[in-house]
Amino acid sequence: MAETLVVDDGVNDRAEAGLAKDAAKAAERVGLKADSIVIRGGKPLVGRVDVRGAKNLATKAMVAALLGKTPSILQDVPQISEISIVTKMLEAYGVAVTSPEDGVLVLDPKNVERAHFAQIDALAGSSRIPILFCGPLLHALGEALIPDLGGCRIGDRPIDFHLDALRAFGAIVDKSYEGIRITAPNGLTGANIELPYPSVGATEQVLLAAVRAKGVTELKNAAIEPEIMDLIAILQKMGAIIWMEPNRTIFIEGVETLHGYSHRAIFDRNEAASWASAALATHGDIFVAGAKQQELMTFLNVFRKVGGAFDVREDGIRFWHPGGPLKPVQVETDVHPGFMTDWQQPLIVALTQAEGISVVHETVYENRLGFTEALVEMGADIVVHTDGLESVTRRVPRRKLEQAAVITGPTKLHAADVRVPDLRGGFSYLIAALAAEGTSTVSNLGLISRGYEHFVDKLTALGADFDLV
Ligand code: EPU
Repeated sequence: MAETLVVDDGVNDRAEAGLAKDAAKAAERVGLKADSIVIRGGKPLVGRVDVRGAKNLATKAMVAALLGKTPSILQDVPQISEISIVTKMLEAYGVAVTSPEDGVLVLDPKNVERAHFAQIDALAGSSRIPILFCGPLLHALGEALIPDLGGCRIGDRPIDFHLDALRAFGAIVDKSYEGIRITAPNGLTGANIELPYPSVGATEQVLLAAVRAKGVTELKNAAIEPEIMDLIAILQKMGAIIWMEPNRTIFIEGVETLHGYSHRAIFDRNEAASWASAALATHGDIFVAGAKQQELMTFLNVFRKVGGAFDVREDGIRFWHPGGPLKPVQVETDVHPGFMTDWQQPLIVALTQAEGISVVHETVYENRLGFTEALVEMGADIVVHTDGLESVTRRVPRRKLEQAAVITGPTKLHAADVRVPDLRGGFSYLIAALAAEGTSTVSNLGLISRGYEHFVDKLTALGADFDLV
């Protein structure tokens, strides 16, 4: 029996216990009754999975509903624990959230009120979304209290861009022992903001604050991920005036009132890319229903270069291993339209099977290659260069970020017992265990339910051989 591996991302025992607690809470939120999955690997995953709305859009669309005077309807909402956290947070603020049918949420903000901080604090511990409540709450209540933020432990994940942007709108930010208290006694006023880096969250922060601020906001160096474009589409449906110029500049003309929206969330391209990598690593064949080509173009190019096959259809994309050797690649994570940081973790598992040396440069988060330690224990040949390999431009100012993983393949993966360190790393461990010969145990399973809907049922549908414990 292999030894249990603790992936040491530089976190201590307390953080390990925190991860286990987060995993248990997340599992409970989606009714997952197991902490671990015992996988008998070495079999290809074959079949169909359905991918619904993106975690990284749906959660923000729910927050946007706070800005409207009338109820909003969001469709294709996945059953993942992040959605249940945001639902509870909205309820704590007096928003009535109902689900008339599977995948549909009706969000009625007509009784928005101050929530008890303890209520929010208890919910927020495992999510990044609370920081995005600032703008809508400042407009509705003149005040927002933000607890310590959670989310995946993949780096420091500071919120300085968010707070600087809020200050530019005229908000006052006070740090207290409880968290951060943000007030706007004179309301918010449109501002000229240039982000030091095209941060997804900070761009959303500016959008959600600017749509009802007085005057025009100019946001330079904005993130333009498809999920952000979908959020802009939602805000426009609500009555907002937003336009874009080349070079990542977004203009927002504030309006007095917004109303509710009806919107189908953009598909989860991170989940789609994860199943694609699973097909490749297990010599499988997976049809990802709901996946679309345009938002995945950069991923599809890399998938093809590695030697994966895909077929774009009306209702989804089929991904498979066409046989023969896989080829090594050089990948550098980047903001859209570059190769997403969320795609590299599942892909690295497939790259352990490529013939030759692949290099993955992680330029977005400083700690997103730590998960590879467990893959090494499973037989992969991966060396992480924590200072990077060459002079990749530093995209996030003031911080040392570049890490590079050098993956030499092909190496046979063997079974191990591993603990999920974060959402995408966790899915990668599932893929590795499915590809490996022998019986592996993957624990802290709940963390995967933060972003992968019904993943256990999907594994069953794809013919995986496992037990939940
Ligand atoms: N950053 C700062 N200061 C800030 C904000 C960000 O230094 O105030 C840094 C971050 O520490 C990071 C970089 O900027 O090094 C990029 O962060 P960004 O703000 O773009 O990311 P995010 O909004 O926190 C979202 C997704 C992530 C995804 C990234 C990059 C959500 C809830 N999360 O995070 O998704 O990796 O954008 O595209 O939308 C995931 O789904 O597993 C996940 C981590």
